Amino acid sequence: MKKPLGVAVLGLGWMGQVHSRAMLRMPSLFPERSFDPVLVVCADTEQERRDRAVNDFGFQRAVSDWREAVEADDVDIVWVTAPNMLHVPMIEAAAAAGKAVFSEKPIGGKPEQTLTAFKAAEKAGVRTAVGYNYLWAPLVLHARELIASGALGEITHYRGRFLSMYGSDEMGLLTWRFILDQGGYGATSDILSHSISLAQFLVGEITEVVGMRNTTIPQRPLPTGAASHYGRGKPEDPKGDVENEDFASMLCSFKSGATGTFESSRTMVGPESQNAFEVYGTKGALSWNLEKMNELQYYRLTEDPNSGYTTIYGGDRFPFHGAFAPGQANPIGLEDLMAIEDYSFLEAIASDSPFSPSFREAVDVVSVQQALINSWESRAWEPVVDLAGK
Ligand SMILES: NC(=O)c1ccc[n+]([C@@H]2O[C@H](COP(=O)([O-])OP(=O)(O)OC[C@H]3O[C@@H](n4cnc5c(N)ncnc54)[C@H](O)[C@@H]3O)[C@@H](O)[C@H]2O)c1
Repeated sequence: MKKPLGVAVLGLGWMGQVHSRAMLRMPSLFPERSFDPVLVVCADTEQERRDRAVNDFGFQRAVSDWREAVEADDVDIVWVTAPNMLHVPMIEAAAAAGKAVFSEKPIGGKPEQTLTAFKAAEKAGVRTAVGYNYLWAPLVLHARELIASGALGEITHYRGRFLSMYGSDEMGLLTWRFILDQGGYGATSDILSHSISLAQFLVGEITEVVGMRNTTIPQRPLPTGAASHYGRGKPEDPKGDVENEDFASMLCSFKSGATGTFESSRTMVGPESQNAFEVYGTKGALSWNLEKMNELQYYRLTEDPNSGYTTIYGGDRFPFHGAFAPGQANPIGLEDLMAIEDYSFLEAIASDSPFSPSFREAVDVVSVQQALINSWESRAWEPVVDLAGK
């Protein structure tokens, strides 16, 4: 008998739709699961999205007031997939109502907001998850196993970058991601957070950082109309100021003694979604890039004069891959990572077992971000202080 788990999704934009689809696919992808997700209620302020929730996704109901969804008796778990400025009030209300919470990253938009959410969940004693979905890529999980097994020797250097073009069009609208009170910080909250979470997952704790930032497109057309989340304006449209950074880079030291370099940009022209890492050790190296997420490059130090990087293709011998495609080199896609993370969180709840990344790991990420922000002001190396004080 599978345990029914009632789900509320708050915000049916890109991520709300991805997670809702993940729930719908769960029974056919993971027949061995010990739960059944039930799409109980979707909250969105836009009528068109509420209609889609019921008609296309099969939610039992849709509401405009997210508080109604969070407090509903038939909801066990709340998915927070609304813009960043809504994360904290949604999480506080969900935790107070005793619901487990999955929040999209970065949780709020500023480090102190992530900490507030963590404390609210901790005080209420509810289960939590944060949407650092790239940690669930089968070849990233394999990379972690390779590193932990010592296959690369001692890790000497980590290079992380998330270079995206989503903001590279200067006619791209001034949506919530570009406003400090709505999205929080810019490239660091939105995409460097993914790179930091990957580095902590693969190589461990980061202890000190120094970095720089820049805003390359200082003004954008103001959005008109309710649904213009990813829309484009015209040169004659009124413009408003971009309030956070388009670019951020960072040097760091890991607790292990390894060094790290990071770059993130939402406006560079060229790299379309280059969420990538390279890990260098005394015996070998690994390299992975979201743009080719079904390939892991592996270098092994040998005496062989023909040595060089080998391409390992994704396949069902790696964790979770076989749920989506059998055999070797049959690729999986971005949404499959969210299906894996949602499945893993629901399974952890149903079986009362540990889960990460939780809000605790989200605080680990923003503790590094806070040190980087400090270094923008001091223009010097800054220690990473655990914001949770543990
Ligand atoms: N893990 C990832 O790779 C990833 C990728 C994209 C976005 N995200 C995160 O997901 C979150 C949402 O981003 P998105 O790109 O899906 O945004 P989006 O703008 O596409 O969607 C946001 C949705 O929230 C709805 N909404 C706005 N105000 C609301 C309210 N008061 N109550 C209920 N619904 C409301 C909007 O109508 C919209 O449908 C952000 O925190 C973002 O950082 C994560």
